[in-house]
Amino acid sequence: MTVEAVKPETPPAGQLREPPRAGGGVPVLGHGWKLARDPLAFMSRLRDHGDVVRLKLGPKTVYAVTTPALTGALALSNDFIIAGPLWESLEGLLGKQGVATANGPVHRRQRRTIQPAFRLDAIPAYGPIMEEEAHALTERWKPGETIDCTSESFRVAVRIAARCLLRGDYMDERAERLCVALATVFRGMYRRMVVPLGPLYNLPLPANREFNRALADLHLLVDEIVAERRASGQKPDDLLTALLEATDENGDPIGEQEIHDQVVAILTPGSETIASTIMWLLHMLAEHPEHADRVRDEVLAVTGGRPVAFADVRGLRHTNNVVVESMRLSPAVWILTRRAVRDTELGGYRIPSGADIIYSPYAIQRDPKSYRRNLEFDPDRWLPDRVKDIPKHAMSPFSVGNRKCPSDHFSMAQLTLVTATLATRYRFEQVPGSKDATRVGITLRPHDLRVRPVPR
Ligand code: HEM
Repeated sequence: MTVEAVKPETPPAGQLREPPRAGGGVPVLGHGWKLARDPLAFMSRLRDHGDVVRLKLGPKTVYAVTTPALTGALALSNDFIIAGPLWESLEGLLGKQGVATANGPVHRRQRRTIQPAFRLDAIPAYGPIMEEEAHALTERWKPGETIDCTSESFRVAVRIAARCLLRGDYMDERAERLCVALATVFRGMYRRMVVPLGPLYNLPLPANREFNRALADLHLLVDEIVAERRASGQKPDDLLTALLEATDENGDPIGEQEIHDQVVAILTPGSETIASTIMWLLHMLAEHPEHADRVRDEVLAVTGGRPVAFADVRGLRHTNNVVVESMRLSPAVWILTRRAVRDTELGGYRIPSGADIIYSPYAIQRDPKSYRRNLEFDPDRWLPDRVKDIPKHAMSPFSVGNRKCPSDHFSMAQLTLVTATLATRYRFEQVPGSKDATRVGITLRPHDLRVRPVPR
């Protein structure tokens, strides 16, 4: 039986408990300063205070969920929607009509439109592009030169998403512009979310100008892509055609703004998450040469020495486990939020209507209660005979329920292929000046990872 089919038993309202308050708050700021100062340590320590805990962020009470089972229950319950400060600031910048921020019937309709492009049986059609991009990435590099992992990872992530989902030759030049625009926009967005200085971001300072230019270029690029596809009269079987032909609840074509916001809502999460994950994979290959060698050996055993192809991905079990283990310890998506739409409960605790709830996949995936030797990089923990010991929802990097990432198969295919290609072609070493400490932003990634590729 799946968790989706189980209706957890809810105690009568009178028996619901108030979640314990997390210790360590200070007057006025509450726990906000701890969350801002060291968010990963703060979120990880909350499990010591309870399964559900109350936090004070400024004047506001926010609820944090700290166990795998309750994060699953939260994601699968209809009592919670996507909303809260994180989403509101995203909407302000990226648009209000995209699938990532919609709720209710509009969200269901939008998911129906985009889902076919991400279905398991749709992925092989993207294989040639993924292969081409993975090989082009390693061919661009010269042995011994220093690789700026941030820009290179962003580049390949944007190119794969844009070329697969918005097909067309013109995408090559646009993909480059998209990389530059998205990298700047994400940097600025996180700053605006954690330090909400409001009108100060309108001051004509160089950083604000750069952010506004990048945001305007992102929206302009999306308009150009849509206009050019329309002008071409072509209707390739891709996500953009699905969006252009989508109809609303009344059977009318969806509006221009919704098409635009949908393209933005798919490209933005699609590039930042994959780019961050590739950075961590490069870091892992550099720091764990023994695992890099095992990946290379597996690839050679499967390919017999020819360049690794998309069709090989299914046979690359260990490489897949390496990707999963890297995502466990260094998840791109480290915090998620929901809002209660009615008085409800989680784990026997009372959650009032309108409450904001947060949880951290980073904290869940590093919990020693779920993982033996929790901080050790051990891809073999995903072997069939060991994986059964891992509690349900202790590893849900793509989430579950109606907001589950549509791109789980698409993402795992490209990440496995890219890892196999990198490890077969090169060994990697971090160079002096490389900063591999974790940088907390909209996603988690190394601050400024720089590596040297050494041919195998
Ligand atoms: C949603 C993770 C790659 C498009 C999500 C969510 C997670 C996630 C956790 C759910 C958010 C929530 O529950 O609040 C990831 C990870 C990725 C990845 C870890 C790669 C390592 C991608 C890619 C695309 C994409 C490549 C598109 C090309 C989306 C969209 C949503 C979403 C459109 C919103 C879905 C909805 O609200 O219905 N992703 N994602 N993601 N992701 Fe991904």
